Order: sequence, then structure tokens, then C-alpha cells
Amino acid sequence: MELNSLIDICLHQLTMSGVREEEKVVVLSQGRERLDLADAFMAAGQKLGARMYHMRLPEPLPTSGAWQVGVTGLASNPEAVEALKKADMVVDLIFLLFSDEQMAIQAAGARILTAVEPAPLLARLLPTKELRDRVEVGAEILSKAKMMRITSPHGTDVVYRLGVYPTMSEYGCTDEPGRWDHWPAAFVFTGAADDGVDGRIVVAPGDVLLPFNSYVREPITYTIEKGLIVDIRGGLDAELVKSYMESFNDPKGYGMSHVGWGLDHRAQWHGLTQFPGGMGMELRSFHGNVMFSTGPNNELGGPNDTACHLDIPMRNCSLFLDDEVIVEDGKLMIREMQAR
Ligand code: FE2
Repeated sequence: MELNSLIDICLHQLTMSGVREEEKVVVLSQGRERLDLADAFMAAGQKLGARMYHMRLPEPLPTSGAWQVGVTGLASNPEAVEALKKADMVVDLIFLLFSDEQMAIQAAGARILTAVEPAPLLARLLPTKELRDRVEVGAEILSKAKMMRITSPHGTDVVYRLGVYPTMSEYGCTDEPGRWDHWPAAFVFTGAADDGVDGRIVVAPGDVLLPFNSYVREPITYTIEKGLIVDIRGGLDAELVKSYMESFNDPKGYGMSHVGWGLDHRAQWHGLTQFPGGMGMELRSFHGNVMFSTGPNNELGGPNDTACHLDIPMRNCSLFLDDEVIVEDGKLMIREMQAR
């Protein structure tokens, strides 16, 4: 995208994120990644009268093994973390999620917006007030639930015991102190009690494995007992998931992470065919998907801090909260969560 268009979408983003005159906004990048986006955010923030600077970390050294969440170049830079804690807002172009550093920055009151998807996707899925309202309705309903049940025509039947961990919402912008969000995003999630997931999840053809960024072709059947995955079986896709999870050599990787549903009618299930190099935020957000995840729950305040994390948005599921139907066969049933 040319710089002026990028500045326009960043201006929209920072406005939706409540950036005001004299606010301190830091854009965080590393290496040569997303420098055009960093420049656009700097220019947009300046237009709003914010006090901007760009903190650029070096390119990470090549490491062996699987991509891990929660490991960032800030870990060896406590002075940089201190500077970020003093900001009103940090624009994260690195992907700090699940890192101790992100938690420290939020705890100090700085809000964080992560933007790592390709610019054309950022432009297509701009945050809107309507989307935020819709997500907040979902979060309100989810936060009151004590039990979630998910079923599917392929044989999923799993129960999450809720009420222990908070409900989180992502709507693609952030204007509250200490709040994190990710652009683009439109979904709600929470986590079960640590021993509170039991049943079977059958990931069906067309469902999505993130961070593999692939569509499942053969069913994968997960058996879950007391919050732990005790069995994974199926064909090639199941073997790939098992091999990936084993590579972390971490029993905590078999825990159950966040669970919820997507709310953006503009997001497309086939999005990975257009942006195969992205992080899959479009897939997490498409309207009526039900997404379960495996691995850490420290984002919600839980004890599981494993680096082994998969997000798995599924189609055509039904989701019930305390026996009220929220999603039926992949369609949101609550009027306030439907696209107007
Ligand atoms: Fe996740």
C-alpha cells in the first residue's frame, strides 16, 4: 500500500483508539519488519497531536526449533520495557502477546495495540463502532455464563466449566488504560477452570489450524479430560498436530486455552487463501466461527505459561451458554450480535 493510504488507515485506527493531543504513543518494531506501517503510525499520531516516537529493536537472531509465543526481543532490554511502561499507548508491530514484558507494560497502565497483519487486510477490516458494540454484547453474555457446551455435526460434544477466569474481548482498537487489542479482530473468549473441560472436539475438514495457517482436510478428534488433552487421533492433520505439540516437550502444551466465537461479518473464512503469510486474525474473527485453543491460559491469569499454542477456528458448530443457544450451526442467534 502507498504511504498516504497507510497513514489514512492508521489515522482511523488511532482515532478509534482514542489517541489525543499530548498523549505519549510509542511505535515498537524490530529489524526491517513493517517499517512502512511504523512510519504511517508516526505520521498519523503526529496529525492527532500525540507525542510519538519509534522504538526499533534489532532483527531477532536465527533460532532453531518451533515458533514460540511469549518470547520477544524485549526480554533482554529492561530499559526499553521501562520506557514502554511510561507510554499512554504502545503500537506493537512485533507481536508481544503472552510475554512477561507485555503484561508489565499493561500493568503500568499503557494500552497496547498489536498490528502485524498485511496492510491490505488491516485496510479491509478497520475497527468500527458497530463492531465494537457487537463484541461487547457478546462479552457481556459470556462473562455471566457458568457453562459452555459446544457441539457439531462431526461429533464435537465438549463442556467448559466457566466462571473462574475473566472474559476478554477483541474488537481491533483500544482506548482504555492497560487494555490490549489486536487489529484486526472481532471475537470474545474466556477460559475454563483449570480442570474444567471434558468431552470430545472433532476438528472438521475446512476448520483452521493456527499457526499452521492451514485448512484441515481430515477430521482430528481430541479427547479432553479434566482440562487436559489425553488423546488426539485422525489422519495426516492429526499427526502433524501431534508432532508439533510433542516438539515442545512440555506437558502444559496439552492444556486447554481460550474458547469463544467470532463476530465480524466482513471477515472471510477463505481469508488464508488471500493472506497465507498473515497471523490468521481474519480466521479468528469470521462471523459465527467457534474457536477453541490449546496450551497457555496465563493471558487470562491462569498458571499455564506453555509456549505451545494452537488456535482452531471451526465452522458449523453450535455453542450454548448455560443451555441458551448463542451459535447454531455456525450462525449467531442473538440479534445484537448479528450483522445489521
Ligand atoms: Fe490464541
